[in-house]
Amino acid sequence: MVAYFSWSGNTQQVANWISDKTGGELFRIIPEVEYTEDDVFDRAQDELNNGTRPPLSSHIDQEVMEQYDVIFVGFPIWWYDLPMPVWSFLEEYDLSGKTIIPFFTHNGSSSGASSISTVAELCPDSTVLTDDYFTYSGNNVDEAESAEDKLSLKERSLITVVALLSQGLTDTSFVHHLESAKANGITKSEIAEIITHAAFYAGWPKAWAAFRLAKDIWKEDANEADEKTAYEKSMLFPIGQPNDTFAQYFVGQSYLAPVSKEQVGIFNVTFEPGCRNNWHIHHAEKGGGQILVCVAGRGFYQEWGKTPICMTAGDVVNIPAGVKHWHGAAPDSWFSHLVVEVPGENTHTEWCEPVSNEDYANIK
Ligand SMILES: Cc1cc2nc3c(=O)[nH]c(=O)nc-3n(C[C@H](O)[C@H](O)[C@H](O)COP(=O)(O)O)c2cc1C
Repeated sequence: MVAYFSWSGNTQQVANWISDKTGGELFRIIPEVEYTEDDVFDRAQDELNNGTRPPLSSHIDQEVMEQYDVIFVGFPIWWYDLPMPVWSFLEEYDLSGKTIIPFFTHNGSSSGASSISTVAELCPDSTVLTDDYFTYSGNNVDEAESAEDKLSLKERSLITVVALLSQGLTDTSFVHHLESAKANGITKSEIAEIITHAAFYAGWPKAWAAFRLAKDIWKEDANEADEKTAYEKSMLFPIGQPNDTFAQYFVGQSYLAPVSKEQVGIFNVTFEPGCRNNWHIHHAEKGGGQILVCVAGRGFYQEWGKTPICMTAGDVVNIPAGVKHWHGAAPDSWFSHLVVEVPGENTHTEWCEPVSNEDYANIK
């Protein structure tokens, strides 16, 4: 996610650009009372001096926030520090365990003055990339953008990793650079290839030190990939591609594989452990609804006001049009079901609220 506060638009421009490059969703931090041309300088200074946390008018559900592992946090430098609305934002959410990548625009305070250490203090349980932040002079945002276009964030990370490795600088800050390389899209197989290639020039002892650290950072991916492959082998149907189009209506990662697009649509939907879709309703003037056929794993189907039904391979549920419901994996199991779309007239799906963590955790 790319969260940012911007008053005169420079930081917003950089945020848009980071969002374009990374695919991160944008979130604008908006104070309830906007700063005006007349009061911005005095108010910003008073708030900083008094430690005032201005209330915000933009908020995210903590549940939604939990889905993000990496958060870019952007702001202008105000009075050599972090603008107070960003304090309000950072204190509002539990960001423990997340990687925070700060970026800021300024009119001369190119080091960010105290702002980066303030972010680190406000997020004691997060990994704040205090060495890998981005900074642009507010006057030059446009130029900075085109200069940056020539090298992607991923390429920059690659260069940083190799430069540090070749000097044998494989200490704790190297771990931060590896984390940022991963956040910028370098995959497990790519980092293995990068370090192996660098080994021929920097020497194997330095490369081995880097391998050991990279192994821990990309470990999760390896486990996830292994589990997914093993699960896919247990099922006749393919897992398919990440279900990006509907991701906004799901908690966790789901995948979609079209099985048949003729006569009636049939799709295989796979949910990783813990993944489920929001409550939703298939509307139709006539006919409509869906049939779910579980083909592997274990999951649940629940209609509004009723007890959840556990589904394993071979179980079928009929979902009539107009019935509010959700479906998804058990917390400890992958889950796949075919969706058969029952033809109907004027059909559309209404997406509602997510299933709360509490309700989900209480399913027996
Ligand atoms: C209240 C206020 C205080 C500022 N303080 C500083 C500062 O201490 N150092 C600095 O380099 N720029 C300072 N600036 C300039 C902004 O950081 C710079 O113009 C920035 O790019 C604005 O970003 P925005 O367009 O996203 O609001 C200040 C601007 C304002 C409005």
